[in-house]
Amino acid sequence: MTTEIVYLNGEFMPLEDARIPVLDRGFIFGDGIYEVIPVYSGRPFRLPEHLARFERSHEAIRIPNPMREAEWTRLVEDLIVRNAGDDQSIYLQVTRGVARRDHAFPKGVTPTIFGMSNPLSTPPAELIASGVHAITAIDYRWLKCDVKSTSLLGNCLLRQTAADADAIEVVMFRDGFLTEGSSSNVFVVKNGVLLATPKNNLVLPGITYDVVIELAQKHGVPLEVRAISEDEVRSADEIWVTSSTKEVLAVTSLDEKAVGGGKPGAVFHRMHQLYQDFKRTVMRETA
Ligand code: PDD
Repeated sequence: MTTEIVYLNGEFMPLEDARIPVLDRGFIFGDGIYEVIPVYSGRPFRLPEHLARFERSHEAIRIPNPMREAEWTRLVEDLIVRNAGDDQSIYLQVTRGVARRDHAFPKGVTPTIFGMSNPLSTPPAELIASGVHAITAIDYRWLKCDVKSTSLLGNCLLRQTAADADAIEVVMFRDGFLTEGSSSNVFVVKNGVLLATPKNNLVLPGITYDVVIELAQKHGVPLEVRAISEDEVRSADEIWVTSSTKEVLAVTSLDEKAVGGGKPGAVFHRMHQLYQDFKRTVMRETA
């Protein structure tokens, strides 16, 4: 097995050598932000968009971004070459830093910067063909879900309810309307129209979500971006989850009830193909 090389505060090192002090506010409070960037054939996908969201996360939680875009780009490229595999998922995290425990922000503290590479495990062909099971839950997370924060206890608790039910994701509702999954955005198809939740404080603005919207617009898939009621989700012809690691995946049963015909639908097949073609084109262009 090759040694995994991670980045911590200016240095590359084997994963097992990377250590942070226990008073790091990321450990104590979950006081940090992160990004997950898919890498195909050694090339990061939509990196500027991920870094722009990372910048917005820094602003949202008032951590001065410790690096410029060019430095983050360099770090991502370095992590890719130092770790084996054409397809990887690069994880970046910044926490407020190390300080005595006190909820208010400490003064003069240096942010902790961490980066690692994980294998990118996009869904296998069987799952794309069969679709996946999901369950539903009330979205009880906080009201800043647009911030890609490392404080993910709500997401983890909710995802575990899905895992307990042998489901891949939990589709969440707040006040009777669809929000998102525990680590994915959710789309719905009804009568051939693709429905997408608007971007607001209740959902993470997904990079994959943006790609799906762009592809729908470019290729004439009827699209409505608007609040989607729980009833519309439960009576949908198709439900999809999207994320940097899941790409676009069909949900074919929700709370053990078949979605549409219980198989990935026609609009899903079209979008999945468009997404794969788009990925290939982008990768060729950046080669
Ligand atoms: N999660 N919503 C939530 C709550 C997420 O955590 C994610 C991604 C998404 C999709 O965003 P994107 O398309 O930019 O990956 C939506 C990442 C993959 C994770 O936490 O591992």
